[in-house]
Amino acid sequence: MVPGAPRAPSSAWAGWQPLFLLTLEALLPSPAWVCPVRCKCSSQDRSVLCHRQNLAAVPGRIPPACELLDLSHNRLRTLQQGMFSRLQALKELDLSENVISNIEPGAFNSLQRLMTLRLRGNELKIVLAGVFAGLPSLTVLDLSQNKIVIFLDHAFQDLASLRHLEASNNHLVFISPRAFGGLRQLRQLTLERCNLTGVPTGALGQLPHLGELRLKVLNISVLRDYSFRRLPRLRALEISRWPFLATVEPHSLLGLNLSSLAITKCNLSIIPYEALQPLTYLRCLDLSHNPIAAIHGGRLAQLLRLQELHLVGGQLATVAAHAFWGLSHLRLLNVSDNALQTLEEGAFHTVGNLETLRLDGNPLACDCRLLWVVRRRRRLSFEGRQPACASPALVRGRRFKDFSDILPSGHFTCRRAKIQPEAPQWVSVEEGSKARLRCQGDGDPMPTITWLSPRQAWLDAGLRGRVRVLPDGTLEIFYALVQDSGTYYCVASNVAGNDTMAAHLHVYDPSRWANDTFPLANMSANGLGAPVVPLPGLGMLLGAVAMGAVPFLSSVAVCFLFIFLWSKGRGRVKHHATFEFVPRSPGAPRGKPSHGGRLAMRFT
Ligand SMILES: *[C@@H]1O[C@H](CO)[C@@H](O)[C@H](O)[C@H]1NC(C)=O
Ligand SMILES: *[C@@H]1O[C@H](CO)[C@@H](O)[C@H](O)[C@H]1NC(C)=O
Ligand SMILES: *[C@@H]1O[C@H](CO)[C@@H](O)[C@H](O)[C@H]1NC(C)=O
Ligand SMILES: *[C@@H]1O[C@H](CO)[C@@H](O)[C@H](O)[C@H]1NC(C)=O
Ligand SMILES: *[C@@H]1O[C@H](CO)[C@@H](O)[C@H](O)[C@H]1NC(C)=O
Ligand SMILES: *[C@@H]1O[C@H](CO)[C@@H](O)[C@H](O)[C@H]1NC(C)=O
Ligand SMILES: *[C@@H]1O[C@H](CO)[C@@H](O)[C@H](O)[C@H]1NC(C)=O
Ligand SMILES: *[C@@H]1O[C@H](CO)[C@@H](O)[C@H](O)[C@H]1NC(C)=O
Repeated sequence: MVPGAPRAPSSAWAGWQPLFLLTLEALLPSPAWVCPVRCKCSSQDRSVLCHRQNLAAVPGRIPPACELLDLSHNRLRTLQQGMFSRLQALKELDLSENVISNIEPGAFNSLQRLMTLRLRGNELKIVLAGVFAGLPSLTVLDLSQNKIVIFLDHAFQDLASLRHLEASNNHLVFISPRAFGGLRQLRQLTLERCNLTGVPTGALGQLPHLGELRLKVLNISVLRDYSFRRLPRLRALEISRWPFLATVEPHSLLGLNLSSLAITKCNLSIIPYEALQPLTYLRCLDLSHNPIAAIHGGRLAQLLRLQELHLVGGQLATVAAHAFWGLSHLRLLNVSDNALQTLEEGAFHTVGNLETLRLDGNPLACDCRLLWVVRRRRRLSFEGRQPACASPALVRGRRFKDFSDILPSGHFTCRRAKIQPEAPQWVSVEEGSKARLRCQGDGDPMPTITWLSPRQAWLDAGLRGRVRVLPDGTLEIFYALVQDSGTYYCVASNVAGNDTMAAHLHVYDPSRWANDTFPLANMSANGLGAPVVPLPGLGMLLGAVAMGAVPFLSSVAVCFLFIFLWSKGRGRVKHHATFEFVPRSPGAPRGKPSHGGRLAMRFT
């Protein structure tokens, strides 16, 4: 039962109605304007408002001139064929928040002027073909919060003027490829909180004029290649709150010409650079609330016209040098609430066009890299959210606007990268074992460490596989191979400069080594330090002594005996002797022990 209080004005209105009508009748072209009981009418805007009246049926005697009929929040269950056919002037019909579970085909027949139809919050499970027949002017249709499971082929066939379809909060599991056939004018579509398992590519392809598409709260984990074919007019795409979305395939956005793209509150851990590449007309990109950790250098360069980039509330720790290379129109960067310690001027193509910079909510290290922001702090808009320093201790907690124009010494300064210790390293390992070359950098800001391999390849912390650069700068080679041997260079660099150190790696093959001579020749030849060499096995030592050294040593011993004898007769005989050691010829077969060569002695 509806309480008495709200009813009172309604009955009071009813009492005054004849008088009102009398005065208005002359002005109105329509015939008698009699308001149905429990409704409020306004002849001026031709509305009949019957919401929240606990109505189980559409009230009779609705004036045919009515243009707005509000039947929301009632108990309507079924809409029969032709039930509104008398109301030919109707422009807006609100049937939201009823319990409508069944709409007979033809229910809206002959509502030639109807522009807005709201069926939000009902119990619809299916939309039969023909349900929306006879609505040539309909531009807005709201079907959200129903229980529709499937959109069948041709469900919206007759809605040639429809511009905005709202289908959120349904149980939609499937949208048939021809479901949107006939929606030639549709401009906006929202699908939210559905049980779709993929983007309904086929159905969307039937919407040649679609300009805005919102796909929210969906349980889709991969955005597949070619998901949005044949949407030439789409300008704004919003993908939001897909908690499982971790993959955006490289060609997923191919065919689109967007000016605004939002992929927010998903599970993207990297920016889908490749997928973004074709969007050369993009003006606004929003990737907020994704666990994205880095914006890499030069990889957004295709987005020539980008003006706004939002990446709020992520895990952004690095904005690489040249990250915004090519983005000469960038005027707004919103990276608040991330893990950024800095944002270098070198990340931008030009900071000349930058107007708004949201850097608040980041643990900023106030050194020379942020000096450019401080210098521009009066020209840039922080939207009232001043960035603040988290380090160094000297300025912790200070907001940028609190710094005076002439910065005291020690504020916003840097110290060049240095490697400790500077001495070169020598490392020798057996093939198949793990090799580690250490390199520790120091400086302010802490330098990043990269390595240059003997083959001139740069190795950095991004590597995954046999060779890695650990967070402390150590180069680690799992399962070292003989061909990994050579000189590596560690480069520590920060904004203030870089420092380099050489490290020599020797990887030996133990089976070869056992048969051959020591692998020391090259290393000690440099004379720069003692190589780390494991002790040879006892058996091998004995073998070497027995096979090679004994003949040699005995020859030497004989020589010394000669010298000794010779020296005995010194002074009396003025002769001179030269000893010459002729080594074994280089062509001798490998793996055979040397026999010490020949020892020759000449007398002069
Ligand atoms: C859709 O998903 C919700 C849970 O998210 C579930 O309760 C509902 O039963 C699903 N509907 C269908 C038709 O699968
Ligand atoms: C969402 O999808 C994942 C797999 O991607 C599945 O494990 C999960 O049950 C789904 N959740 C709902 C509510 O449908
Ligand atoms: C998001 O991705 C991470 C891995 O990148 C995974 O561990 C996590 O479970 C994902 N979260 C959801 C909700 O799928
Ligand atoms: C893409 O959209 C822009 C407007 O945002 C338009 O100027 C341009 O011609 C479109 N390009 C194509 C290939 O449709
Ligand atoms: C930047 O992001 C924050 C947080 O989402 C938002 O409140 C703010 O409006 C954004 N700024 C602009 C200019 O869009
Ligand atoms: C190191 O600094 C020098 C100039 O000081 C520069 O030419 C060189 O490119 C830098 N190297 C690296 C790897 O940053
Ligand atoms: C080393 O000698 C062993 C036997 O002593 C032999 O089996 C092996 O093939 C040799 N390796 C090489 C590389 O010559
Ligand atoms: C050792 O030195 C020789 C020449 O003296 C050279 O050909 C060879 O490549 C060097 N080996 C290594 C591992 O550096």
